[in-house]
Amino acid sequence: MKITIKPSRPGLQLILSTPMFTLAHLTDPHLAPLPSPRPRELAGKRLLGYLNWLRSRKAIHSARVLDAIVKDMLSRSPDHIAVGGDLVNLSLPREFSDARAWLETLGPPDEVSVVPGNHDAYVHVERREGIGQWKAYMRTHAGRSKKLAAGPNGFPYVRRFGDIALIGLSTAIPTPPFAAWGRLDGDQLDALQRILPTLGEEALFRIVLIHHPPLLGLTKWRRSLREAAHLQELLVSLGAELVLYGHNHVQAINVLPERSGTVPVIGAPSASSCRGGTNRLARYNLFRIWFEHGRWRCEMTGRGLRTPGGPVCELEKRLLTG
Ligand SMILES: [Fe+2]
Repeated sequence: MKITIKPSRPGLQLILSTPMFTLAHLTDPHLAPLPSPRPRELAGKRLLGYLNWLRSRKAIHSARVLDAIVKDMLSRSPDHIAVGGDLVNLSLPREFSDARAWLETLGPPDEVSVVPGNHDAYVHVERREGIGQWKAYMRTHAGRSKKLAAGPNGFPYVRRFGDIALIGLSTAIPTPPFAAWGRLDGDQLDALQRILPTLGEEALFRIVLIHHPPLLGLTKWRRSLREAAHLQELLVSLGAELVLYGHNHVQAINVLPERSGTVPVIGAPSASSCRGGTNRLARYNLFRIWFEHGRWRCEMTGRGLRTPGGPVCELEKRLLTG
């Protein structure tokens, strides 16, 4: 049970203890098999994407591997699952309904959060036919506070689990062929500027979930988040306790200095990847979060494939903060 005392300074609530919370982060499942596209669906960028799928991606993203990752993850009974986007491949309407069915195998919407990736906006798709099918998994749970309200497109949404808060951003926009950049529109940046300090005043553990790498220099320009410099500045000045991203299909840890400490920024590989070295093979990360001796603590356990075709096993365990 959480015990609190009166704020020691305005707006700050000192948390003395909080139950252990476990968050699983899984990203870029690129659900396979790809439904056969109709000829009229292959106009423009989708045709290139389909040829690319047949030529290489089909052999990388394995439904069998993803099933093994999900089974292992669910066996650990995380309190919440964060899915980091790129559920689909070509943004075909049937892919979105298949992805909705897959999300239901992870858990009910209250226990699973999703942010969209660039493949979930591969081409323009009407919202109700596209990511709108996942709206229950992207709904805010933060009450009616205007300070925590999402921007006009429903992002960033805020979900609260006691003293833990998850903030979901959308960087997914259609881009020209051979490009995969992301955008954070001004409304989302404005909302984030309200949301981070509001949650920070309550001393909550703030988790930011995003698809594109949120820092400068983590990927090529044509694949990067256009507002990475702005976002990085906000994270440094307003703080967050953990930032999770996907997109690069590589396990990576960066540490961002902020006013009162550091922000771990963690990228994860595709959860269906059956090719590449250990840092590119299918994996998910479990974050154990607790409050002890006046500070938040967070431990990451990576579980996935060590070798292609191998079993899901523990890959690493490390204390990120505390
Ligand atoms: Fe991806």
